[in-house]
Amino acid sequence: MIRFPRQFTWGTATSSYQIEGAWQEGGKGLSIWDAFTHTPGKIIDGSTGDVSCDHYHRWEEDCDAMAAMGLTAYRFSLAWSRILPTGRGAVNPEGIRFYSALIDRLLDRGIEPWVTLYHWDLPLTLQLEMDGWLSPGLASVFRDYAAVCFEQFGDRVKHWITFNEPWVVAILGHGQGIFAPGRVSTDEPYRAAHTILRAHGQAVRTYRDRFQPRQQGMIGMTNNCDWREPLTRDRDDAAAAERAVEFFLGWFADPLYRGEYPDCMRERVGGRLPVFTPDDRTMITGSQDFFGLNHYTTMFAAKTRPGAAVETTPFGNGGIAEDQDVQLSAHPAWQKTEMGWSIVPWGVRKLLHWIDARYGHPPVVITENGCAFPDVPSGGTVDDQRRIAFLDAYLAEIHRAIDEGVDLRGYFLWSLMDNFEWSSGFTRRFGLWHVDYTTGVRTPKTSAAWFSGVIAENGFVPMEGNPYGAVPGEPRHD
Ligand code: GAL
Repeated sequence: MIRFPRQFTWGTATSSYQIEGAWQEGGKGLSIWDAFTHTPGKIIDGSTGDVSCDHYHRWEEDCDAMAAMGLTAYRFSLAWSRILPTGRGAVNPEGIRFYSALIDRLLDRGIEPWVTLYHWDLPLTLQLEMDGWLSPGLASVFRDYAAVCFEQFGDRVKHWITFNEPWVVAILGHGQGIFAPGRVSTDEPYRAAHTILRAHGQAVRTYRDRFQPRQQGMIGMTNNCDWREPLTRDRDDAAAAERAVEFFLGWFADPLYRGEYPDCMRERVGGRLPVFTPDDRTMITGSQDFFGLNHYTTMFAAKTRPGAAVETTPFGNGGIAEDQDVQLSAHPAWQKTEMGWSIVPWGVRKLLHWIDARYGHPPVVITENGCAFPDVPSGGTVDDQRRIAFLDAYLAEIHRAIDEGVDLRGYFLWSLMDNFEWSSGFTRRFGLWHVDYTTGVRTPKTSAAWFSGVIAENGFVPMEGNPYGAVPGEPRHD
């Protein structure tokens, strides 16, 4: 039996645009994702989040489902344009009432709300009037929105996440253009990221100055990172793998802990990488109380061989390939989820150790981990054994990292229920609960009961012969 530390936080995660629907109800303003999904050709199945899981109307039922599973925490995001329809100015009381009631019900059911302020759905007005994250001025607009949230909900919310995965906003939103706002550029990702880091810094300063002493909560950012394993023992490949993680995670976490972008980025990106003012540096350094990490997959990294094709697939490539000079590949024997992401459980352990060593043993919370599989209902249920095997294998490696000294405090599974998977629309199912998008009916998958058992025991008996347990390829360089 594997047992997790006492007080370990067990939760599921969602985000506003992916589950709420009600895109034009309750006084909500439009967001860049409303505009993006309504643009033909952007979403593979032509769908939108207009209705999605209809959580806006079914939130009570969803809270009860979580309570029945015994969750101790739930991570969700606030739709900025539900609170401030044009991003700034007048507060929308209906939006406040909606989230306030949700928070109350969660607390009433013994579930701690972990609230993300920004999970990509920027108010459309701010994109149109200010050019979104490309405008340095958006940082203080975000700070003011954050202050409204601290003021309204901070008496009950004790864990705040300023941003979810700024890497995605930068690379997929401003580099490859496959996510809103759909821009394609080699310098805008760095500019957008810089504004986000400054926005985070300003929001945290406001929280610490005006709210934290009284409200006694914690605040951090959630960053995503895949693991990069050196392809060979060659020193150049080891350096490429290190560089890949620095471009992916160090880009955001180095400023938070060290006040500067990684040296290798400064060298390679040059003048396209903005510079922190002394004031910004002071504000951003040390600006998180916990390290939020989203982790999904692993790839091998190598120095680009002359003539080799550079990895340019939209997901999992880790950044602007030309800037990094890293060639990525997967082991031929690795099995993949429906996202095409390799299932490599030991990668999470290695990444946790990398974070522990580089940032001085910070408290870490895995704010997302999970997998998409086809999940076809049959006989009134969904028997998702592959998801259970995935979770069993990843949680075993996560537990090993804790045993080896990593200060990991919690685990949030992506996701509570199937939902709108961004540019993949409704074609990918990540949930513990199956959602029928025609009727809105939710059905627990077998994994929901399994996860509920893990929470009840604060641990689990690892599966014998887990198909994802013994994965080849570890580690080639040591
Ligand atoms: C994360 C994101 C989530 C969810 C998940 C699965 O990057 O934060 O919103 O989509 O990936 O792809």
